[in-house]
Amino acid sequence: MTTKDIELLINSAETAMENAIAPYSGFKVGASLMTKTKRLYSGSNIENPSVMLSTCAERIALMKALTSKKDTLKAIAIVSSDGAYCFPCGACRQMLFEFAPDISIYLKSKEGIKRFSIQELLPNPFIRGRLNMEAR
Ligand code: THU
Repeated sequence: MTTKDIELLINSAETAMENAIAPYSGFKVGASLMTKTKRLYSGSNIENPSVMLSTCAERIALMKALTSKKDTLKAIAIVSSDGAYCFPCGACRQMLFEFAPDISIYLKSKEGIKRFSIQELLPNPFIRGRLNMEAR
């Protein structure tokens, strides 16, 4: 990822955040994924009055990427409306681990930009290989 790529990715996440539908929490999130060929897939959080049905920005971006052209996912940027670092929730970490095991995660706050690997954010993940084991 070049500095320019990171800037593009963060701009895309910030634009996506403007489209968040978050009237219940008032907490807007924007996420954008970049593929190996530099395609961008963005998402924002979408809430529902049945609040358990709300979906995170990261998973919306991921679903868009996964249902589009097959291309390796290289990076995701995440921003939120409170201006602090927005670490992805556990469910989003698990989904990113499964579908983008080499992904770089860029978080932007008022203080600056931080980069993490998914291994740093999700140590000891539940892995798909476990499902092939014999039942005990
Ligand atoms: N949210 C995200 O979209 N991504 C995160 O990483 C954390 C939380 C959303 C879900 C909900 O719409 C709102 O933020 C408050 O939890």
